Amino acid sequence: MNTAIEIPWTWLGIRASGVTAWGLLTAVVLWGLLLRTRLLGTGVKPPVLLNMHRWLGSLALAFLAIHLVLLVVDPVVAFTIPQLFIPGIAPWEPFAVSLGVIAMWLMLPVSVVGRIRQRLGKNGAKIFAKTHVIAYSAWPLATAHYVLAGTDAMTEWSIGLLITASALLIFGLIARGFVPAPARPQRVPAPAESSVSAAPEASSSIVG
Ligand code: HEM
Repeated sequence: MNTAIEIPWTWLGIRASGVTAWGLLTAVVLWGLLLRTRLLGTGVKPPVLLNMHRWLGSLALAFLAIHLVLLVVDPVVAFTIPQLFIPGIAPWEPFAVSLGVIAMWLMLPVSVVGRIRQRLGKNGAKIFAKTHVIAYSAWPLATAHYVLAGTDAMTEWSIGLLITASALLIFGLIARGFVPAPARPQRVPAPAESSVSAAPEASSSIVG
């Protein structure tokens, strides 16, 4: 007689994609902090860190998309499309799920504006910087969502993951406060143009 409990693959997928999206979101914030501080010294060039930061952000969104698709496909929770995007109307744990929905809405503007920044002209850098600050608050909300909604949240490995990620981010934030950002190359004005102010560096807006 087979006594094994059948766990739907969709449920496993929701959990695995959720933890992966959260891990990647943590890595995005960490890479942003590495970019903003001198923690890695001069060994790693800022463009390499910036590319990694962007790439991790896209990957986090891809796993978030998988998380959402599986919630619709799962035969037990069977979310509808509006339930994925409107906080408070989920068929299961509405408060805990709302935190994930809000975290998702906080993550989206920075990725959209980041892609069309050049087309926004003069204001592009300013708008991008604002969306970037908003994106920071996605991590605490996504983490609260993980802790409150996650089936695996209170397992040993998951608690270890949560503590390690939080410790790394706290360390990075402290470093951001105490370790100065790498100096941007100063443009020395030629004598004839000394009265013309230098254009702001494009890179000044890449991190919050
Ligand atoms: C930034 C966005 C999000 C992140 C990083 C994220 C991450 C996670 C994580 C880590 C878990 C716990 C997995 C486990 O250990 O069991 C989880 C569970 C869950 N998430 Fe999300 N999530 C996000 C957004 C959303 C959204 C928008 C929804 C639905 C509208 C949602 C619905 C759920 C549900 C229903 C569970 C419970 C699955 C279970 O039984 O464990 N999440 N999510």
